[in-house]
Amino acid sequence: MLRRIVIAAVAVCALGTVHIQAQKNEFFRPKEVWNDTEGNPINAHGGGILYHKGTYYWYGEYKVGKTVLPSDATWERYRTDVTGVSCYSSKDLLNWKFEGVALKAIPDDPNSDIHPTQVLERPKVVYNKKTKKFVMWMHIDSPDYSKAEAGVAIADSPTGPFKYLDGFRPNGTMSRDQTVFVDDDGTAYQFSSPEEKYVRRFVGMAREAPAVFKHGNKYYMLSSGCTGWDPNSAELAVADSIMGEWTVLGDPCTGPDAEKTFYGQSTFVIPVQGKKNAFIACFDMWKKKDLQDSRYIWLPMMIDKQTNKITIPWHAEWNLDVFKKK
Ligand code: DGJ
Repeated sequence: MLRRIVIAAVAVCALGTVHIQAQKNEFFRPKEVWNDTEGNPINAHGGGILYHKGTYYWYGEYKVGKTVLPSDATWERYRTDVTGVSCYSSKDLLNWKFEGVALKAIPDDPNSDIHPTQVLERPKVVYNKKTKKFVMWMHIDSPDYSKAEAGVAIADSPTGPFKYLDGFRPNGTMSRDQTVFVDDDGTAYQFSSPEEKYVRRFVGMAREAPAVFKHGNKYYMLSSGCTGWDPNSAELAVADSIMGEWTVLGDPCTGPDAEKTFYGQSTFVIPVQGKKNAFIACFDMWKKKDLQDSRYIWLPMMIDKQTNKITIPWHAEWNLDVFKKK
């Protein structure tokens, strides 16, 4: 009997040390389930990437639980409760370690902007060199999307914890889908409306899901049309100065379902570190009736050496070697 107990104990100890290694990702496979280093699906929607001291950090909407259509909804505003903003870290952009929920929802305060009943979308984080703080900007809204504010949270570390400060309408104007871009001189710009100085662009046009990047001396903005969670055509615009004039270049996507952005919606453009002219266009493929299972479509941007024309061709499977071939 004693022997059996000893054997059982040894077996338990041995099991305790068994470490199930999640498979290493070798390729980007748009639309497929993308697992983190622990083997769980990455849950970071409407996300943004920060590169800081040799590591990429991916922040996104942590969508957990059932998707519902509120009974008073007059349009397809499917939702999950707000749980917070997740953070993942990576050195190679393919394998992401879950760092936890960097900004947590506040369930105890029904008046909080980030109470589970509210809307928190499209978080983007920038580093403020002067204050040494990590600053998260996000779309804050009421469940019917009438509040239309930008929310701000800060942290001392890229992985958080972030402390939510407040939400407001920058320059008194509505702010919904938003992104933040830091220029080479360290100045940060919020799209759709920044502090102090602001300009209205794309007046009379309905665009959302902005993703801004700089290539050469020009600023580019990728965006989508406004059709709720449903896909539409992407559009690229260019400007010599960040405050405009912006010129619409057209739809950069090519290949099957390009006119529907491959069933995705833009959220961010990543400049690949250590590579010249290498950018990744990141899209969400929303699953409106099961938002938690929404997928990611990351595709390389192709920049023609002679003409500088930017295209985003479909690839079912690819890795960063694609940039060597250009
Ligand atoms: C499209 C936006 O881009 C998303 O972030 C989200 O706000 C949905 N609309 C809601 O329908």
